[in-house]
Amino acid sequence: MTYRYIGSKARLVEEIAEYIGTPSNSGGMFVDAFCGTGVVAETAMKLGWPVWLNDHMVSAGIISAARMISTHEANFKCLGGYSEVINILNGLDPLRGFIWREYSPASVLTGDVERRYFTEENAGRIDAIRQQIGLWKKGELITKLEEKLLIADLLSATNRIANIAGTYGCFLSKWQNQATNSLIMLQRELISQPTTVRVTCEDVSNLQVSSHDLVYLDPPYTKRQYAAYYHILETIAINDEPEVQGVSGLRPWQTKASDFCYKTRALDALTNLVVNLDSKRILLSYSEEGHVPIDQLMDNLTQVGSVTPINLMKVGRYRPNKTASMARSTVREYLIVIEKDKLSTVRGEVI
Ligand SMILES: C[S@@+](CC[C@H](N)C(=O)[O-])C[C@H]1O[C@@H](n2cnc3c(N)ncnc32)[C@H](O)[C@@H]1O
Repeated sequence: MTYRYIGSKARLVEEIAEYIGTPSNSGGMFVDAFCGTGVVAETAMKLGWPVWLNDHMVSAGIISAARMISTHEANFKCLGGYSEVINILNGLDPLRGFIWREYSPASVLTGDVERRYFTEENAGRIDAIRQQIGLWKKGELITKLEEKLLIADLLSATNRIANIAGTYGCFLSKWQNQATNSLIMLQRELISQPTTVRVTCEDVSNLQVSSHDLVYLDPPYTKRQYAAYYHILETIAINDEPEVQGVSGLRPWQTKASDFCYKTRALDALTNLVVNLDSKRILLSYSEEGHVPIDQLMDNLTQVGSVTPINLMKVGRYRPNKTASMARSTVREYLIVIEKDKLSTVRGEVI
């Protein structure tokens, strides 16, 4: 499953894999501390690592964890199997629930704004499917992992028919073709063997990793706050009915405002994070477009150990609007390898 997600490393993951390598015998985990879509953690899992997924957004943890669920863990035995469950969900009648009320044109019935994130039909289908998943879980007809898998499938289905230009920061005024298609749940391919996965939904500063863990850090690097840009996915994942605000119908997100998104705080936040992690080896992804210039970041990080910058390939720029489209089309991405137990503080040159 691919997602359009700001900062996704889908196109860089093969290069990053070279620096992840295979797990040592010391029993450490691969900690994807800002897991987002989980594409990097999935690669580590394929390399044999036990994986720890963390993100302060519930939706990100679910999307990531669903990549690591095996056929044994999601056989849906009480409901006749995965494909039967997908058929049932696709056959439900739309419901006039929260998503219909707030994020389809029906929003104008209860407020001042006609929101066009979804057609009324698709919004009602999201409501019906999300309600059914909750009822199955409550009635113990599906397990926790099966529930996660179905929510992740619903988030994928939602992304395919959302009337947006990549994020849920705003909806488009004209209906795009994809938004007029019917929402359809698709069965994904599951992995064949269960694997060790831990999932947490914490602010990254709360993670207590061990010295043997390999920690991968992929923090936000611009002012775009994920909690605001993906607010509807978060609401579908949590399944609550928050009081929403403004034209976009934002759920309260300020408690998840990330320090890494503020130009004035990002350097200190990154440095403190690396200094306070107990892990001996840390991989840090950063972009030349980030708030913190790479040279300055390198200068600060040399205080913790040996620091090597790797120049990854150039990736296409995320284009949320016309101004960005007119700017350069590619951006250079870096992977900074930090080895804490080496006392040498030889500074690698950014090449
Ligand atoms: C650049 S994205 C990660 C992308 C991911 N590596 C991928 O390939 O899909 C950054 C992620 O960090 C999360 N995040 C931002 N601030 C955080 C914080 N303080 N603690 C934990 N997660 C945070 C965001 O929700 C977002 O999913």
